[in-house]
Amino acid sequence: QRQMCIRDRSNTNLTSKNVLQTDLSSKSLGSVNLDKYVIKGGCRLTGEVNISGAKNAAVAILPAVILSDSPCRIENIPDISDVKTLTYILKEMGARVEYLDLHTVEIDPRPIMTDTVSAEIARRIRASYYFIGALLGRCRNAVVPLPGGCNFGVRPIDQHLKGFVALGCDYSLDNGMISVSAQNDLHGANIYLDVVTVGATMNIMLAAVKARGLTVIENAAREPHIVDLANFLNTMGADIRGAGTDTIKIHGVQRLRGVTYSIIPDQIEAGTYMVAAAATGGDVVVKNVTPKHLESISAKLVEMGVTIEEGDDTVRVLCERPLRKCNVKTMPHPGFPTDMQPQITTLLSVAKGTSMVNESVWENNRFKYVDELRRMGAQITVDGKVAIVEGADRLKGAPVRALDLRAGAAMVIAGLVAEGTTQVEDVQYIERGYENIVEKLVELGADIYRMEEPERTLDKIG
Ligand code: EPZ
Repeated sequence: QRQMCIRDRSNTNLTSKNVLQTDLSSKSLGSVNLDKYVIKGGCRLTGEVNISGAKNAAVAILPAVILSDSPCRIENIPDISDVKTLTYILKEMGARVEYLDLHTVEIDPRPIMTDTVSAEIARRIRASYYFIGALLGRCRNAVVPLPGGCNFGVRPIDQHLKGFVALGCDYSLDNGMISVSAQNDLHGANIYLDVVTVGATMNIMLAAVKARGLTVIENAAREPHIVDLANFLNTMGADIRGAGTDTIKIHGVQRLRGVTYSIIPDQIEAGTYMVAAAATGGDVVVKNVTPKHLESISAKLVEMGVTIEEGDDTVRVLCERPLRKCNVKTMPHPGFPTDMQPQITTLLSVAKGTSMVNESVWENNRFKYVDELRRMGAQITVDGKVAIVEGADRLKGAPVRALDLRAGAAMVIAGLVAEGTTQVEDVQYIERGYENIVEKLVELGADIYRMEEPERTLDKIG
């Protein structure tokens, strides 16, 4: 079987995605390639995989560039469609955007003359809401479409708005656009977040960085990408302390200057390959990672019987014995990340025994993908925020859909484990956040390729 997998690598079209992803035209963003991934399961993943820059850091750092009074160079930027969307928005606003190579972009925000982000592209991506904070910091006014993003339930922004109001802004909603503005300069404030939210923590940071006086965010989120955004802003001349703890203090400064900055590795992409390695009984060195960011994921894999060896910037995942059940509860960082929940649930679906997975970050159902897994033979029942996973001997290949980014990654992992062939549809969701996933898996020995389908417009799938 291993030989068959290697032979099939040569049939894989390695170029089509690169073409799609480096095309910055509105046409490329307005329509999507409805390729499927076709996966023949049963190949053991072995070798090394390089992790790209963190999506959820990049999508905040790109809007943050408009706070600078000179050009910024951002390195280790992931080559994913969410990043392409944001660079397109920046261009549309008037910024000069130039890719020096696939992972380095130079952005000059000085020509931007607008306080408005047009609805056309921006509403498709959740992270466009970071333009509210960044525009407020830049010019005290922001008109931005209400955010879209992965559809796993209601995703409110009340905590963002509460923060902007505390900083001296008013807001109104008209025709799907949210307008936030301050009559006078933004001023520092004490802001206690009612829920631990990544988006509100970063957005308030962006708005407060040039406000007059001291802003204190309490009950702040502590994710690695929050620290990365703070580091980026501090390198530009900001005065932010405490990022990575639940109290962040921001002394407003008058100006921020352009810098060169390299984005941290993607915690969730790394975790996804770790789980894929474990699921296939593999031996994979996951490279260019920060092992500390992966501790909650590593701990669960060890509990399941997987061997983890940490290096300075690598994690080796070795799985030689049957996987054991374990219970998982998603929590804000440093807890187990919600963005790894579908992947670990998939792994537990082939572990020995009954496991419980508790989704505590998202109020609404982030278990919709379980129906797709059941089509492959997984034995999972969902009761509200809890999934009860009875380990099955095997999964069987089936046509399934990627319902969102991480649910899609879970379907790929299921396909790698399953007997027979799995077709994963709607892979445009996966390509929002995983750079070259097909190519990286092929390098590790997976039998996976992208089957091309005719395009249709993005509007129809929201
Ligand atoms: C970010 O979303 C990530 N997205 C998500 O990752 C991730 O799932 C989430 O953080 C949690 O880690 C980006 O960074 C672009 P939140 P965000 O605000 O900021 C509630 C992925 O797969 N809440 O931390 O939108 C909310 O309903 C994506 O990469 C409020 O009640 O999430 C949720 O229950 C998908 N009011 C909880 O807080 C608010 O004003 C956490 O949400 C804001 C949030």
